[in-house]
Amino acid sequence: MFTNRTIIVTGGANGIGKEIAIQFANHGGNVVIADRDTMNGKKLEADLANSGKKCLFVETDVKKERDIIRLVETTLQVYGTIDVLVNNAGISKFHSFFDLSVAEWDEVIQTNLRSVFLCSREAAKRMKSKGGCIINIASTRAFMSEANTEGYSASKGGILSLTHAMAASLHPYRIRVNSVSPGWIHTGNSEELSEQDHLQHWSGRVGKPEDIARACLFLADSKNDFITGQNITIDGGMTRKMIYE
Ligand SMILES: NC(=O)c1ccc[n+]([C@@H]2O[C@H](COP(=O)([O-])OP(=O)(O)OC[C@H]3O[C@@H](n4cnc5c(N)ncnc54)[C@H](O)[C@@H]3O)[C@@H](O)[C@H]2O)c1
Repeated sequence: MFTNRTIIVTGGANGIGKEIAIQFANHGGNVVIADRDTMNGKKLEADLANSGKKCLFVETDVKKERDIIRLVETTLQVYGTIDVLVNNAGISKFHSFFDLSVAEWDEVIQTNLRSVFLCSREAAKRMKSKGGCIINIASTRAFMSEANTEGYSASKGGILSLTHAMAASLHPYRIRVNSVSPGWIHTGNSEELSEQDHLQHWSGRVGKPEDIARACLFLADSKNDFITGQNITIDGGMTRKMIYE
């Protein structure tokens, strides 16, 4: 499905991004893993290459504009094209609102939100001539909250707005922009989860990275080019479940 197409996945060395990278590689894509975690990024690059997949790791801190420009240039040098960008890199830091420092606020916003703007701007410059697809990983915390999550929630709410703004600006160039909002996606050992963890979801289970990766494949499929400016929530029903104590 993605033969001769190049897919950049930020934060692709671990968790959800790793599964997104694996799925695009399994479907024939040239996958570029952009992450600051060099050890796991290089390991995934080697594992995919050893199983005959096309994959490149580029050490990238998505907070740094120069790293992002280098990421895009390196991708073009190696694969000659950028067709899909998945803005997945993110951090979650939860802190008492009263003690939340400017440094921590800035770190979360720069990592989770400003990176989406910078990576998309640089990739879109190269997609302009032949179209492309941008997928932003937001969160159900864009719509609903626990206490002391201001920076993270604001970053994810910002991603939703940035998604439809970029869809408006980039449609003349046939670049589609959508977001995916995961609920609880367990990236560790499934044995860590309790029965209650699973059963509180209408789906009867906690989410898996594959649930998000499949949505990315769907959105990146050029047959689905009637979808742009949208968000897909994947949360086992949790944002539709009414809860009054
Ligand atoms: N896991 C969940 O339940 C869940 C729910 C909603 C949204 N999300 C979102 O999904 C995305 C992936 O989450 P995850 O659970 O897989 O997290 P994770 O911590 O397992 O993986 C995040 C990856 O991003 C990388 N990263 C972090 N900061 C970076 C930076 N400055 N530059 C480059 N890479 C950086 C990390 O090295 C890591 O490889 C995030 O945007 C997160 O907010 C996750």
